[in-house]
Amino acid sequence: MTVELRPTGVACNIQCQYCYQNPIRDADNVPRSYDLEAMKAAVEREGGPFTVFGGEPLLVAEEDLETLWAWGLERWGSNGIQTNGVLINDNHVRMFHQYKVEVGISIDGPGELNDVRWAGTLERTREDTARTEAAIERLCREGIPPSLIVTLHRGNATSDKLPALQDWFRRLEGMGITSARLHDLEVEGDDVGAAYALSHEENMAAFTSFAALETELSTLRFDVFDDMRNLLVGNDDQTTCVWNACDPYTTRAVRGVEGTGQSSNCGRTNKDGIDFVKAPAEGFERYLALYHTPQEHGGCSGCRFFIMCKGQCPGTAIDGDWRNRTRDCELWKGMFRHLEEGMLDAGMQPLSASPERAQIEGAFLDLWSAGRSLTIAGARRWMNEGRDLAAVSAGGGSHGDIPHGDSDA
Ligand SMILES: C[S@@+](CC[C@H](N)C(=O)[O-])C[C@H]1O[C@@H](n2cnc3c(N)ncnc32)[C@H](O)[C@@H]1O
Ligand code: SF4
Ligand code: SF4
Repeated sequence: MTVELRPTGVACNIQCQYCYQNPIRDADNVPRSYDLEAMKAAVEREGGPFTVFGGEPLLVAEEDLETLWAWGLERWGSNGIQTNGVLINDNHVRMFHQYKVEVGISIDGPGELNDVRWAGTLERTREDTARTEAAIERLCREGIPPSLIVTLHRGNATSDKLPALQDWFRRLEGMGITSARLHDLEVEGDDVGAAYALSHEENMAAFTSFAALETELSTLRFDVFDDMRNLLVGNDDQTTCVWNACDPYTTRAVRGVEGTGQSSNCGRTNKDGIDFVKAPAEGFERYLALYHTPQEHGGCSGCRFFIMCKGQCPGTAIDGDWRNRTRDCELWKGMFRHLEEGMLDAGMQPLSASPERAQIEGAFLDLWSAGRSLTIAGARRWMNEGRDLAAVSAGGGSHGDIPHGDSDA
């Protein structure tokens, strides 16, 4: 599991209109300084290694990035960064090589498809997008291709825009990109939803079109589909956090360290603009409640995909209230159905259509009631090995916002 180091908190050089960190900016909880020694001590306390995250981590002074990465290389043998890519310069590229920095870049498509990642004026936005595109090409040319995060919304994934987005992925594969993460849009507030959210039908059309594109591509993978297929067969030890019963007060997959050295949670759970202190123990009340609550009241009761989906990320819950299931239920249910159908056609038996499902659901309810959680694969092992609760530690989930994150399962 990777520590997310956020020296400058949510400070950013651009203003993506949909950013889930906007409530923190609106509350003016943006730090003005950071303390290198306090951050290093906190990363050690969390057990490292770390990825530099933000806001925008390239706002950190270059000499301080060098200090952190030289230390990270010596201590853990590699480093990471998750950036919008706009500010990448020659010195950064030198450091990426020298300190073995795995680079993740966020961009929602070429040219106008990236306009929602706004930089103040249309001209500035297009210039910044061109800079990010150039940085991706350069890193590919220099043999260190970044992994990409692409968020799908009205600006890049309606039916008129999908062909251009798909062509871009074909070109990226040709350049050497092998890993892309597709984000569904997390909606913070009605205004963002009205302006940028795809309808459920549009979301389904977009995601199924990318599942189809993947079969045409040979080396570029969209990890969301691998996750969902692996969940359907219970081979889910390496899946991302959104499928792994995340407690919004501890966010197991995200051990954040702020510029002061304070530890923090995943920003997706922060709906009030305040970074609450991490809770010392995990609770699974959300998942027990979702299992028992009818779907018309915000729960998941009776859903055959529950052990795979678990109501998905609490940061995306209906009405911003983590007790509810995700507002994107229709998308995920539709995609699980789509992938399930493909498996049944291929003569496989996904867990959603297997009598074993009820047993695994029972195991999860027992684990959660005891304040524990596992992956499906872990629950199967636990059942086979005599259901010893004392032997269970939490399982599953690397953070969905850093594509090179590893898993703690
Ligand atoms: C908050 S940014 C921080 C790191 C860096 N500034 C970047 O752009 O990669 C982390 C990731 O979250 C994504 N993101 C931000 N708001 C989002 C939202 N509302 N829904 C889905 N993804 C979002 C960004 O596009 C980016 O990939
Ligand atoms: S993105 Fe992951 S860590 Fe963050 S709230 Fe969602 S499930 Fe939890
Ligand atoms: S698909 Fe919908 S109902 Fe089923 S577990 Fe996921 S959020 Fe709940």
